[in-house]
Amino acid sequence: MCGIVGYVGSKSALDILLEGLTNLEYRGYDSAGIAVNVEGKVELYKAEGKLQNLKNITTAKKEHIEKSTIGIGHIRWATHGAPNTVNAHPHSCNCGRVAVVHNGIIENYKELRVKLEKDGCVFKSQTDTETVAHLVAKKYAQTKDLTEAVRLATKEIEGAYALAVIHQDVKNTIVATRRNAPLLVGIGENEYYVASDVPAIIKYTKNAMYLDDNQIVTLTPSSMKLIDIDGNSISQKIETLPWEPVALSKMGYKHFMLKEIHEQPDVVRNVLSGKLRAIDEKVILNEVTLNRESLKNLNRIQIVACGTSLHAAMVGKYIIEELCDIPVDVEPSSEYIYRKTVGDKNTLVIGVSQSGETADTITAVRQAKSRGSHILIVTNRPDSTMAREADSLVPVNAGIEVSVAATKSYMAQVISFYLLAIYIAEIKDSASKSILEKIKRELIILPQKLEKVLSHKDDVQICARKFANSKDFIFIARGINFPTALEGALKLKEISYINATGYTAGELKHGPIAMLDESMPVLAILMKGKVYDKILSNAEEAKARNARMIALTDSEDVKLDDLFESIIRVPEVDETLSPALAIVPLQLLAYYIAEFLGKDVDQPRNLAKSVTVE
Ligand code: M6R
Repeated sequence: MCGIVGYVGSKSALDILLEGLTNLEYRGYDSAGIAVNVEGKVELYKAEGKLQNLKNITTAKKEHIEKSTIGIGHIRWATHGAPNTVNAHPHSCNCGRVAVVHNGIIENYKELRVKLEKDGCVFKSQTDTETVAHLVAKKYAQTKDLTEAVRLATKEIEGAYALAVIHQDVKNTIVATRRNAPLLVGIGENEYYVASDVPAIIKYTKNAMYLDDNQIVTLTPSSMKLIDIDGNSISQKIETLPWEPVALSKMGYKHFMLKEIHEQPDVVRNVLSGKLRAIDEKVILNEVTLNRESLKNLNRIQIVACGTSLHAAMVGKYIIEELCDIPVDVEPSSEYIYRKTVGDKNTLVIGVSQSGETADTITAVRQAKSRGSHILIVTNRPDSTMAREADSLVPVNAGIEVSVAATKSYMAQVISFYLLAIYIAEIKDSASKSILEKIKRELIILPQKLEKVLSHKDDVQICARKFANSKDFIFIARGINFPTALEGALKLKEISYINATGYTAGELKHGPIAMLDESMPVLAILMKGKVYDKILSNAEEAKARNARMIALTDSEDVKLDDLFESIIRVPEVDETLSPALAIVPLQLLAYYIAEFLGKDVDQPRNLAKSVTVE
């Protein structure tokens, strides 16, 4: 959360910074700001709220600001201090010569602030970041060297940070550094970029260098110097970024979320590509580096994740336990890290994360790693911090996901779990060939079924309109689709702000049923299989309490018409694979309700796409 961007070169920095921030807006949108150096003077421009507010301010002074060929920018997801203009980055020191943008949290900012105030620093904001600006200014006054000033400052600050700093007295220079927060440098011709994430710079260059923790980079239009925290020079590893700028376009869809929902059939094809070639061939998962013996000896699996990734992990638990006979625990990373967890070298720990930058999950996998467990990371970002912790790295290849509400990355994670479970089962010989072949067959034809679901999206839209004004929503399911109910409810909450909850259908009668009346929609995920009849009975119970009933089903049974006010039908699917199909209408339902209510679908309030604070 929070995104930073910087540019130094010969072009005007303004448009590059604003474009970069636009493509980082998924990381936060509480405020935005830039610092530029116009005719030898550092100037700050900041605005509360969406980036558009900053754009309005800078447009009014465009002719002036665009003279600067250097600048840093920031998009904020507030942690310390209210989301107002004063707390917006960049932050500065007493004399206004330093400007700092920061992603992360300075944990010892209170102590630092007390010391700095004693030294005469006057704080304007409530942020942790302002301490860095004053500290760098102080160190610069002592050393007259910006790189050294930043290096000495980072020796005193604790916590997580990606920082970019400019100083009025050091022309055409950006100094940037990181610890436990992502940062990369884009390399152009006689120009450099710095950013929290690839989308900010991909339009300009595909050559980049990822910083490691405690590295400090000094950029001028003609040079890039990299040192460690002790001041030693280190060699630079330049990489070619795998993304294409087109990934950042809505391709004619009204929102990124809708585009990403529609990409799911291709996402499934991508995930399966090269891994599942035919029904009668074994799954190939070279990314898993555990040898066959170790896989056979696994006595438990722990999966840690947050939010939507946690729901994908829950589907993973069902499949792995079903096919591999290994007990699987799934836990929110934020809980896992604050208790004694039991595990050893025969415990496989799987971290699941779209961004690979979720602080809680990074801490959880590090904790498990220190105890000797093998760490397998399932992520959409093989270039992320979490990926670097992996013993086995399984990239899910969903392509860049811009909408804050995760959709296609969930699909890719779920499909990756099917592959992983089949892979382990084939090594352990823990499931029959016919069962595995049935799942493989379903996986291969899943993209066509998803396309069919998407081609009937108008039915979902009609249902969405009918229920859009509900205050609350209940989703019920059993077994492998319980995570689908949770994920459907999460999607609705996130983007429409309707209070939605997923329950196991059997639990309804143990309390939640008290909430039911004629104003409460209850959506039953009624996929054919072991628990179909049971869920149907639970739906009857809810109907008897006058709830407004909706079914999501692959059954053609006409009797359902009497019980349900609305029915969303999907193609018939094997129960084991049903979560991958059933989630899509729920994503669409959330989308259409939010859109109907006029909500900001791609950037829902209070959220950020990657949560880099614990
Ligand atoms: O990047 P991650 O998958 O680790 O992110 C975890 C959650 O923050 C994320 O899934 C969040 O719940 C999304 N907004 C879901 O749409």
